[in-house]
Amino acid sequence: MREIQGRTRLEVSRERGLTPLVGREAELLRLLEAYQRILGGQPRIVLLEGDAGVGKSRLLYEFLRRLEGTEVLELEASCLSHTQSTPYHPVLQVFRRYLDLAEGADPEEVRVKILDRLRALAIDGEEPPILLGHFLGASASPEFLARLSAAQLKERTFAVLRTMLLRASDATPSSSSSRTCTGSTPPPRTG
Ligand SMILES: Nc1ncnc2c1ncn2[C@@H]1O[C@H](COP(=O)(O)OP(=O)(O)O)[C@@H](O)[C@H]1O
Ligand SMILES: [Mg+2]
Repeated sequence: MREIQGRTRLEVSRERGLTPLVGREAELLRLLEAYQRILGGQPRIVLLEGDAGVGKSRLLYEFLRRLEGTEVLELEASCLSHTQSTPYHPVLQVFRRYLDLAEGADPEEVRVKILDRLRALAIDGEEPPILLGHFLGASASPEFLARLSAAQLKERTFAVLRTMLLRASDATPSSSSSRTCTGSTPPPRTG
């Protein structure tokens, strides 16, 4: 016996072994066409809707599987009823995954991973790592916080998050797909 590690129903069934895919050729084709347009420089947002269990997550999984081997970074977040009380939960999830940080990672690890990522994205300055750290659980010093109003803190933090995502998708063509709250953008080019 072992614990099943999946976060979502689809991840759980993936661990158990998926049923063979039936149909969905037309839907997959539409997603791949949207992706081709993105490669041509046209941004696209895809809204995938349907009743629970109809196969939204599976379709997204099949689509992303077909992009394997390309430089696509999948950033995924879910809006679930039990996460409603955490402010910015989906945004936090996206950035934690982008930085490869587990929930509750220790502040030192948070700081190190932030610095690495900001360097890779060529985002300079003293403030961005502090703001991002504060957002992701490595609290800024009281002196730093005393210099900013709550509104400024929020505004500047979101400016950093925005810049990061823009830099990341500038580096390669970008795509985004959405399930409950799911996005994908290719990673920054490295090396
Ligand atoms: N086209 C399909 N062929 C085979 N199995 C499918 C197909 N679509 C969905 N499934 C299976 O049905 C289950 C529910 O699908 P899921 O994608 O999780 O639904 P949703 O995200 O819409 O709630 C999963 O086990 C999934 O693998
Ligand atoms: Mg689903």
